[in-house]
Amino acid sequence: MLLTRIIATGSYLPEKVLTNFDLERMVDTSDEWIRTRTGIAERHVASDSEATSDLGSMAAQRALQKAGMKAEEIDLILVATITPDMFFPSTACFIQHKIGARNAAAFDLSAACSGFIYGLSIADSFIRTGTFRNILLIGAETLTKVTDWRDRSTCVLFGDGAGAVILRGDEGKSGLLSTHLYCDGSLAGLLYLPGGGSRNPASLESVRQGLHYIKMNGNETFKVAVRSLEQACHDALSHNSLDASQIDLLIPHQANYRIIQAVASRLGIPMERVYVNLGKYGNTSAASIPLALDEAVESGRIERGDLLLLCSFGGGMTWASAVIRW
Ligand code: ACO
Repeated sequence: MLLTRIIATGSYLPEKVLTNFDLERMVDTSDEWIRTRTGIAERHVASDSEATSDLGSMAAQRALQKAGMKAEEIDLILVATITPDMFFPSTACFIQHKIGARNAAAFDLSAACSGFIYGLSIADSFIRTGTFRNILLIGAETLTKVTDWRDRSTCVLFGDGAGAVILRGDEGKSGLLSTHLYCDGSLAGLLYLPGGGSRNPASLESVRQGLHYIKMNGNETFKVAVRSLEQACHDALSHNSLDASQIDLLIPHQANYRIIQAVASRLGIPMERVYVNLGKYGNTSAASIPLALDEAVESGRIERGDLLLLCSFGGGMTWASAVIRW
């Protein structure tokens, strides 16, 4: 059977690191509060001259190098992001030009932190229907550019980064076994960025009100996250007739250590089989899973044949899961 395989991964983090101690000097918070409530110790921050496409291009080039491929061989570039360089052209178009993928179609998709798994699902359909052969899927974000650095309830959470994978069909047992996508638009008000779009076009007043920053109801988001991730994982396991004990590595969206722990415990997966790197990066939205995937592959945490369970939730609210035989 033709399965969509991840043939290479890559990632990129901007150089600058902002620690909790740095944040202590910016807002009324403490390293202790941030660590115990979120598990985050530091995060990377893009420079003024770095946009999302710069991070995404670096991650893409690293994945291409590992795959031993030329950019011209890519047929489609899909970029999951909620912090595009600009409304249009899409960030995918900028990346197409930057890496020289002149034969590729390109578009962005917006599903917040679930964007990477949504992207896997779209890429899988294109590959299995024969529409495209080689797909470059990137999750790239510069959330720190839409963060209100005066709001301690959100500014401690986010970071910048990018992860990329190259996907191709393969006749074998390894590959993407299933994806499961969900949304509840009635929960949009829990996590959103109100300004700059057609609802609240940018104006002096919209900027004065800070409408161009992320707004979040943390408590409610937390509850929805735990519930939705558990459901998405159960659906993924039962769809594949798998038991949680068969999962070699759970790679959840890296938003909050307590959310990850609660989900793992509800699924009965011990933390030794859960990949966690948010301490170093914070919540990088659509970049979080491909960043974790690349790091896990590079460090030898994932071996050929391993069963991976991916899950994510984010603004929308959207949530999603995927099962991969590596
Ligand atoms: N430092 C110190 N105190 C703080 C800070 C801070 N950075 N932030 C909030 N507090 C205070 C609050 O003001 C509150 O004080 P009060 O009791 O005097 O009112 C107290 O800490 C507790 O606040 P809560 O919001 O109840 O804290 P909670 O334990 O829920 O943790 C957090 C907050 C970390 C935001 C948590 O709710 C969370 O992680 N929620 C999920 C968020 C998330 O994952 N969002 C990303 C989704 S992904 C995407 O699409 C981008």
